[in-house]
Amino acid sequence: MRILFLTHSFNSLAQRLYIELAARGHEVSIEFDISDAVTQEAVRLYQPDLIVAPFLKRAIPEAIWREQVCLIVHPGIKGDRGPSALDWAIMNGETEWGVTVLQAAAEMDAGDIWATASFALRTASKSSLYRNEVTEAAVVAMLEAVAKFETGGFAPEPLDCNRPDVRGQWHPIMRQEDRAIDWQLDDTATVLRKIRAADGFPGVLDEVLGLPCYLYDAHPTDGLQGAPGKVIAHNNSAICRTTTDGAIWIGHLREKREGEPAFKLPAAMVLGARLTGIPVLASAQTDIRYEEKNGVGFLHFDFYNGAMSTAQCERLLQAYLAATRRDTQVIVLAGGADFWSNGLHLNLIEAADSPADESWANINAIDDLAHAIIETDRQITLSALHGNAGAGGMFLALAADQVVARAGTVLNPHYKAMGNLYGSEYWTYLLPRRVGAERAAEITDNRLPVGAASAKTLGLIDDCFAGDSAAFWHQVEALAGDLATQAPGLLAEKQAQRQRDEAIRSLADYRAEELANLKRNFYGFDPSYHVARYNFVHKVPHSRTPRHLALHRRVGVK
Ligand code: COA
Repeated sequence: MRILFLTHSFNSLAQRLYIELAARGHEVSIEFDISDAVTQEAVRLYQPDLIVAPFLKRAIPEAIWREQVCLIVHPGIKGDRGPSALDWAIMNGETEWGVTVLQAAAEMDAGDIWATASFALRTASKSSLYRNEVTEAAVVAMLEAVAKFETGGFAPEPLDCNRPDVRGQWHPIMRQEDRAIDWQLDDTATVLRKIRAADGFPGVLDEVLGLPCYLYDAHPTDGLQGAPGKVIAHNNSAICRTTTDGAIWIGHLREKREGEPAFKLPAAMVLGARLTGIPVLASAQTDIRYEEKNGVGFLHFDFYNGAMSTAQCERLLQAYLAATRRDTQVIVLAGGADFWSNGLHLNLIEAADSPADESWANINAIDDLAHAIIETDRQITLSALHGNAGAGGMFLALAADQVVARAGTVLNPHYKAMGNLYGSEYWTYLLPRRVGAERAAEITDNRLPVGAASAKTLGLIDDCFAGDSAAFWHQVEALAGDLATQAPGLLAEKQAQRQRDEAIRSLADYRAEELANLKRNFYGFDPSYHVARYNFVHKVPHSRTPRHLALHRRVGVK
């Protein structure tokens, strides 16, 4: 079928649905939700069989939903209605939640129901639930709804709030007053729930050391206490604040200010001199963690939103080098739970005095890490992608000898969407060696997300493991164990191959050419990268849908 996505942005959920529908032979074209007129034009140009709205912030124009079926993905159980579905579910302590695919109608989220899927509501941030449980349930429900539509003859179920299986209800938009923390009354569990229900957007409005700001990225901690609401420590990145029965770490803040809105940054950076006199607990940095199991080293790096700053890359390089000095045969690069990596830390670059200089420092720090991984000759390296990877983060993963991904991951092996960025991380060496030069050019030019199964077919990754988190890590451990038993032979092969490759063209040469191109992106006359980064970091709404996504806007496509 020809399916038109109407969506606020091509976010991870929309990307995953796109991947799943394309894998089933459907053609999917995308239009961002810009205005009623633009939406109507898209429908006219594409003449879709079906319209799907994976992530909408505005209602679909009546002239469209009256004419043809529009399926809306709502992150709530049957009967749940309103724009803050997940926020309320977390705040209300729901233990089971779901996704409903319903037909667009006059009343928001009250249309006829095509399919639902449910999941256990994990204790996690809203964005983590959205990227994992909600996305998985949305895939199940959407595929069921699309199949019913294609077969024909299915009558969707009208919403009837008197039915016993309709547990949901209408909830208004959640306001900051609903989210507010009372530091004198709220215990750790309550504060965590409030911040998690607002993470990554809009955050909880509060005041920290006299500065009005939004709070994000909260984690519990043991053994720290004090008068409720006080900032008692920081670790040069996050701050530690007391509750009525303990303390929590808050990783990120966004200043509330007049004029140009601020964007999310590490808490200590936002507070700056306000932290003077507050004790530093450097040992409390837990974003990088190393463990060994059965002689295999696992390096975890769980950076907020998968963004890797210069300092984080430098710390990760040191942790990696320490791992290579251990008596292990395999090192697993495990990334974080939600993201393996999204490459350069665009927010910190945007905040720097010279974004060009900071981009340069950041890319060199990632390159140093990629170089160390490629040159590792004492261990077999395995990138295990439990979370999504994009841009430089995806190519960094390819620096390892083997790459595997969880079946649901969404991979974005391209840089160009960020203002025609050329990219580095030795991608000009790493990508063609896996997929060949022709396919490498296609993959990077297409600027499209790739699912783990297709990535395996393309040769971009070596394997893709189905199942939940536990099943994924079980398979990774089994593979790492196998690699360890074959290590002597594999290492000899790897060293010989590296020498042959180096003789053809040195790693230094690949890097020099990539960086020469990047220098033009960072310091040249064309500001596209700086503009794209500004728009990304400030979340400037799209003014048009790029043509690589909007098939219907390509000349000659019908
Ligand atoms: N630097 C800083 N923040 C980043 C980031 C990066 N490289 N990549 C993602 N983020 C942030 C987003 O701003 C967003 O922040 P929020 O919590 O305030 O909403 C959050 O991570 C999630 O990103 P989002 O775009 O909503 O996630 P997604 O899963 O829908 O999309 C990508 C994933 C990878 C397609 C998209 O995030 C992206 O294009 N990232 C930029 C990649 C890049 O160009 N890196 C630099 C070149 S190496």
